[in-house]
Amino acid sequence: MSVAVNCIALIAFLASTGFLNNKNTLKAQSSARSGNHKQVQPASILIDGVKDRISVSPTMWGIFFEDINFAADGGIYAELIKNRSFEFDNPLMGWRILDEKNSTLKLDFDGKLLITNRGQSTQPHKGNHRYAHIELGHFFGVENEGFRGMGFKAGEPYRFTADIRVKKGSKVELQLVVLDSTGRIQFRSPFKDLPEISDNWSTMETVFSADKTLTNGRLVVLLKGAGSLDMDMLSLFPVHTWKDRPGGLRADLVQKLYDLHPGFIRFPGGCIVEGRTLVNRYQWKNTVGPVAERTTITNRWQTEFKAPRNAPDYFQSYGLGFYEYFQLAEDLHAEPLPILNCGMACQYNSGEVAADLEPYIQDALDLIEFANGDSSTPYGHLRTQMGHPEPFHLKYLGVGNEQWESQYFDRYKIFESRLKLAHPEIQLVSGSGPYNSGKWFDDAWSVLRTLHPSLVDEHYYAPPEWFLNNAGRYDQYDRQGPKVFAGEYAAHGKSTTVPESANSFYSALTEAAFMTGLERNADVVRMASYAPLLANINAWQWRPDLIWFDNLHSVATPNYYVQQLFSLAKGTEVLQTSANHQPVKGQDSLYASTTMDAAGHKLYIKLVNVSSDNKPVDIVLQGLGQGLSRAMKGRWTMLKADSAYAYNSLNQPDQVQPKHMDFGTSPNPKGAVNGYELPFIKNERKGSEGMKIKFTAPSGSVNLLELDLK
Ligand code: AHR
Repeated sequence: MSVAVNCIALIAFLASTGFLNNKNTLKAQSSARSGNHKQVQPASILIDGVKDRISVSPTMWGIFFEDINFAADGGIYAELIKNRSFEFDNPLMGWRILDEKNSTLKLDFDGKLLITNRGQSTQPHKGNHRYAHIELGHFFGVENEGFRGMGFKAGEPYRFTADIRVKKGSKVELQLVVLDSTGRIQFRSPFKDLPEISDNWSTMETVFSADKTLTNGRLVVLLKGAGSLDMDMLSLFPVHTWKDRPGGLRADLVQKLYDLHPGFIRFPGGCIVEGRTLVNRYQWKNTVGPVAERTTITNRWQTEFKAPRNAPDYFQSYGLGFYEYFQLAEDLHAEPLPILNCGMACQYNSGEVAADLEPYIQDALDLIEFANGDSSTPYGHLRTQMGHPEPFHLKYLGVGNEQWESQYFDRYKIFESRLKLAHPEIQLVSGSGPYNSGKWFDDAWSVLRTLHPSLVDEHYYAPPEWFLNNAGRYDQYDRQGPKVFAGEYAAHGKSTTVPESANSFYSALTEAAFMTGLERNADVVRMASYAPLLANINAWQWRPDLIWFDNLHSVATPNYYVQQLFSLAKGTEVLQTSANHQPVKGQDSLYASTTMDAAGHKLYIKLVNVSSDNKPVDIVLQGLGQGLSRAMKGRWTMLKADSAYAYNSLNQPDQVQPKHMDFGTSPNPKGAVNGYELPFIKNERKGSEGMKIKFTAPSGSVNLLELDLK
């Protein structure tokens, strides 16, 4: 096999798949099918069960969560009402006060609404200063537009809650009316009496069922009666959230995360940690405690890009805050990896730095207490009060995101010495700047090598070809230095106006090729996560993303299936995988890596073919002991598309899906499956040595061959 052939084969693949000649078909597709491939000498790949085994970290494949693309509010946080506590810069953004003329309700509206400010931090709404004061004589109605509409599913229950204070002597009833996008009434809840409580706030709740499915609905809060009342925290959630938690997360989106079996979850970002200014940075303490008290702030992605990617209505309600992130990590059986601000705002924006680092270091110390301290400690007590007396078992903490040069190194050093002293058990993650090479990157590594981060966070958003050319990136990394956290990466290729097209099959294919290199170097790379994770199709700022969604549906991209394939076949040890004594990192357009699980019962061979030709390969297995001679069956998972441009969209979610096929010891026992020749296990000599898997890796495909060694 030769590397030179690789470039030619790659060009052929791109040409045949339309990347070079603009034809959107995979010419090689027909030859990928059974019985129609050129007779070429099989490449030989050797998997050695004895030599240089290295361990795979349980945290190897994880997820990166950032509130970008409306990933939190308007996304995984299932709240349907936008600006529920009137805390956006414009307190009525997202709301419309109805009058007789501009409403299909055709009612005699005669009330008025006044936004009132509580003034400084009064209980019970510490960080939530405004509320609505409403006077009504007969009918009053306000309409909320939701986050680019609201999703309702027919037959599903929805829970509306609001903090209210009804003036003595008033008589008020409340009804919820759901409209479609044109303003037509679709269904309503029954009227509910609101109790007069005068001076005290109380929380009212009503549950109603949706009669129709709507992806783009709106909600009218209708008040009938006479008198006056105050309202705040007007909130509407589906009852069936993830684990049915009131005020919880969208079940379909969390399920997709769960199905990735992530080893860790990094949160809350990303640049959102830094903020455009320090005031705008992510401060975890403002995101915990009662939801109604959390301080809403501008989301930094509101103005980062020009129209149409800007979003004037992008704020952070912090309904999804640090407690919920830790809880999500626990639900996913993933290690929590919070990243904290290190006293620096984004160097691309204001570049503001904090003169006094003490509050930032204190935030880090307090966060460790919030996560791990017992309930006798102040922050452990807060966690207990919030419903989680058990610790969250925090082990990792990131200091800063994408900062560079001495401003960062000097601050990181101070954090490191203080945190290591107080909490030697916590593994620190440092940044290495925004680029994967160059002066900032090299400087970062040379300084960090002299310090003690457990992991250094590297980011690479690059063209697909970069991923192919860098599959050997970590082969020469220093084995003694800090480990690597490939904290944000994605292949950025061509796309069309359809948002999801940025997640082409080709981008996923090249990421898979690259990931074999991460896996081969699992002694250096201990964590890796694709980024960003989630994107609202109607409100995105950044693409590609791992999962796209609208108000009701979500779709897994080809890139998601690649992440899932590696994560589910993580194994615990990497086995040496070579062709002609070299790692398989692009020779003849093939990329390969192999892992085995702890008990040694499973072998996971990943083989990526990026060329336009089918590639016959003999995979020779040696040094795997007795179990191997009993390995008579296996399972082939293949990800392949009809075109390099293929992508999954919300309208067509199944364009690129993994196929699963069982195989055994004879070629195609019942004929080709799905049109593909099955691999088969061949024992050429006696005993466990000399066994091989005869396999034809289809053109442009990601493959997992899973062997049961029991
Ligand atoms: O993933 C989107 C952004 O890319 C992250 O916020 C930042 O860390 C990187 O520049």
